[in-house]
Amino acid sequence: MSKSEVTEVLLNEDKIYKPSEKVLKNARIKQWKAAHKKAEKDPIKFWEEAANELEWYNYWGQTFDDSNAPFFKWFLGGKCNIVHNALDRHMGTPVENKTAIIWESDDGDKRKISYKELNKMVCKMANGLKFLKVRKGDRVAIYLQNIPETAVAMLACAKIGAVHSVVYAGYSANALRERVDDQGAKVLITSDVGHRRGKIIDMKSLTDKAISGSRSIQHVIVVKQGDGPVSMKMNRDIFYDALVETQPSNCPTEKMDSEDPLFILYTSGTTSKPKGVVHVHGGYMVGINRTFQWVMDVKEDDVYWCTADPGWITGHSYIVYAPLMSGITTMMFEGVPDFPKPDRIWKMIEKYEVNILYTAPTLIRALMSYGDEWPSKYKMKSLRLLGSVGEPINPEAWRWYHKFVGKSKCPIMDTWWQTETGMFMIAPLPSMPLKAGSATLPFPGIQAEILDGNGKKVPVGKGGFLAIKTPWPSMLRTVFKNPDRYIKTYWTDSPGYYHTGDLATKDKDGYFWVQGRSDDVLSIAGHRIGSAEIESALVSHKAVAEAAVIGKPHPIKGESAKGFVILRKGIKGDEELIVELKKHIRNKLGPIAVTDEIEFVEKLPKTRSGKIMRRVIKAAELGQDLGDTSGLAD
Ligand code: WTA
Repeated sequence: MSKSEVTEVLLNEDKIYKPSEKVLKNARIKQWKAAHKKAEKDPIKFWEEAANELEWYNYWGQTFDDSNAPFFKWFLGGKCNIVHNALDRHMGTPVENKTAIIWESDDGDKRKISYKELNKMVCKMANGLKFLKVRKGDRVAIYLQNIPETAVAMLACAKIGAVHSVVYAGYSANALRERVDDQGAKVLITSDVGHRRGKIIDMKSLTDKAISGSRSIQHVIVVKQGDGPVSMKMNRDIFYDALVETQPSNCPTEKMDSEDPLFILYTSGTTSKPKGVVHVHGGYMVGINRTFQWVMDVKEDDVYWCTADPGWITGHSYIVYAPLMSGITTMMFEGVPDFPKPDRIWKMIEKYEVNILYTAPTLIRALMSYGDEWPSKYKMKSLRLLGSVGEPINPEAWRWYHKFVGKSKCPIMDTWWQTETGMFMIAPLPSMPLKAGSATLPFPGIQAEILDGNGKKVPVGKGGFLAIKTPWPSMLRTVFKNPDRYIKTYWTDSPGYYHTGDLATKDKDGYFWVQGRSDDVLSIAGHRIGSAEIESALVSHKAVAEAAVIGKPHPIKGESAKGFVILRKGIKGDEELIVELKKHIRNKLGPIAVTDEIEFVEKLPKTRSGKIMRRVIKAAELGQDLGDTSGLAD
């Protein structure tokens, strides 16, 4: 992009992108204002209607209960199972012969799995889990790459009422251990190896390291992905193929209470310990189904591709569960967008005739940096709608995505949400006018506000904390085994509201512009990592006495981490030690958490109570005003 174009982009941020006649004509919700108004009048009724679009074994009695706020409940007394809606109800209908999952491997192999086949795989796996004595309520950890078996494992757990907890395959053995221990997982599902950029990752060794000495794990199921020998522990480990081979291909789906847990997903916060966010069957399925259908405007025969990893909430809600509930084709991709060449994504869109692409700003910026010629070579005629998630999308990236990928005809759904919210919270509907870089308005039924530090609404155009007024069905129910942390993190800083931890502004049209986190949580290439987690990894190295980690703006990753380290007495800081410390972070947390830079310092700015002031370090690093430093110890 040339310099003049960049200037033009900045000048045009207020430009409004109206939906085309064609988009309007085909939109599920044509009168978006009326839809918003109706939901605002009676949000509970809105969610009741959404719930009625799904199948229940037994209808609920009370729709919403706030008697024990903030431990809200939805669809009380209802009996359901998300798998019934994602698979069972499609059997015996024309959907069963449709392709449920298209998968492409790192090296370009492909698999197509129909709904019928997927159902069979899930039943067999569910029976396999039962054979290993997994029961309703037991936790099952899943440490797999982006392969169909990840979805199969999740669905199989949910089917029998077990609680799954997917751990992103890019996490290290240590990070896996922490998550497995916290939830007390009984079974872990992993693979022998994984593939990335033509390289092989030894997943089984990482797993063995993570669970050595684990008191909860009884069995490890290994999905064979490579050709080499695998070290298997007697009586503990079993190959997936061997486990499912003899299992019957029918398995009854457990009738769950609406409020029974479906999964735990760990996410970073402001302390070094990740939080186990708990989601439940009933409200979660209602929230993600309605948001997916309305925002992504799904049509019966859509091929939909979300490039996230199943290890994150985006993958849970919008690769696996919501697309399957809609009975469309969802794509899974093991590889990376620029391997073997920067046109991998565009090529795949043409090859599989993808209609909806849902991706992240970091990926758009990375592909943008290779030049316009890569997407320009492809017409991508099948594309109808684009989506963005994970971090604020800067207007340049938005416009590039719109022009070179969407060929100026596909609306972009910039969806703001979180692991905790389960579903899109601030997002457009395709019939709405768009502004480059704004996630637009709260989804119907949701009320969002910008608050100051005292919980008061701020005037239009002023920045503040993004907070949500109305409870919603797919909200997290608690932090696993830590209800106090649930209250403290989400229901304390903005009294009467759900505190999102994000900073945002609202413009005169009511459009929201999310700026990023207000706390010490970094967003590195769209991945949530806590400063405290990286600091804790650094100080666990024998050379390190103290550490502070801050985020710095990064042109592609959005943010990159920099560590400031005080070494122990007598230790010399040199290049070699920097390399070693980075390796140490990689071992402790995984490649996504490695700091780009490490600087050795003598002192760190602290408050009188000894708390490191990351804000001051960051301002100094970026050459900004240090702000209020009266709290500094010296
Ligand atoms: C950020 C990912 C701006 C935000 C679904 C949020 C966004 C955090 C957007 C949640 C967006 C996500 N615009 N910021 N469209 N989407 N974020 O839990 O800071 O991995 O709080 O969930 O990502 O990250 P998480």
